[in-house]
Amino acid sequence: MPLIRLKGIDKRYDVGDNSVAALDDVDLSIARGQRVAIIGASGSGKSTLLGIIGCLDTPTSGEYMLNGRDMSAQDPRRLARIRNAEIGFVFQSFHLLPRLTALGNVMQPLVYGGVPLRERRRLALAALTRVGLQDRAAHLPAQLSGGQRQRVAIARAFVGRPSIVLADEPTGNLDSTATAQVMDLLDALHDEGQTILIVTHEANIATRCQRTVELADGRIVRDERG
Ligand SMILES: Nc1ncnc2c1ncn2[C@@H]1O[C@H](COP(=O)(O)OP(=O)(O)OP(=O)(O)O)[C@@H](O)[C@H]1O
Ligand SMILES: [Mg+2]
Repeated sequence: MPLIRLKGIDKRYDVGDNSVAALDDVDLSIARGQRVAIIGASGSGKSTLLGIIGCLDTPTSGEYMLNGRDMSAQDPRRLARIRNAEIGFVFQSFHLLPRLTALGNVMQPLVYGGVPLRERRRLALAALTRVGLQDRAAHLPAQLSGGQRQRVAIARAFVGRPSIVLADEPTGNLDSTATAQVMDLLDALHDEGQTILIVTHEANIATRCQRTVELADGRIVRDERG
């Protein structure tokens, strides 16, 4: 059974008299443990696809099974609970909570999981150590560099042991040194069996993935393994 299975997924946006097919009849299956690159021109539907897989958004039509569960049949509260347990997100612009410290940000996904406070601290500190930022635990996001912020976001993404980590251009705002650190961290997570989907414009990042899915105008036009 694939971890992710999309069948006939459409996503339409109606703005004024205009209707945009952001996704058009997308079929996609992803097995546990795969690392998949999603590529394609600006506006081709990459972020829309990630948003649907990450349960941030719902498709206009089509079927989405995550871990054997039909996500189209869930009410919003259940969807939020499943999202919290199953999905870790990394965004281009980090999306850390500005008033929480690095440690507080990494503890956040565990709040909803009902993990006791001491255990949340322990797990979050272990995750921060893993990304090399144990000595920045008390820093606010504004007191961190861009690369450090993204490493905090990666710690937050995996601390709850999600089924899948979704990364939307995670290195888009980083210089080459920080990019290499982020990619090494994602490599290490993948080596441990973490399923990862990464949207990227960079060819050398895509080549680190076993599979590349290319979108054009909301459709999958290429799906290459090797
Ligand atoms: N909330 C929205 N309302 C209306 N149209 C939208 C909305 N979100 C996305 N779109 C449209 O859907 C299409 C796909 O957008 P999407 O953000 O998925 O592209 P993308 O491949 O991630 O592009 P980029 O590489 O620039 O991030 C675009 O044509 C966009 O204009
Ligand atoms: Mg995008």
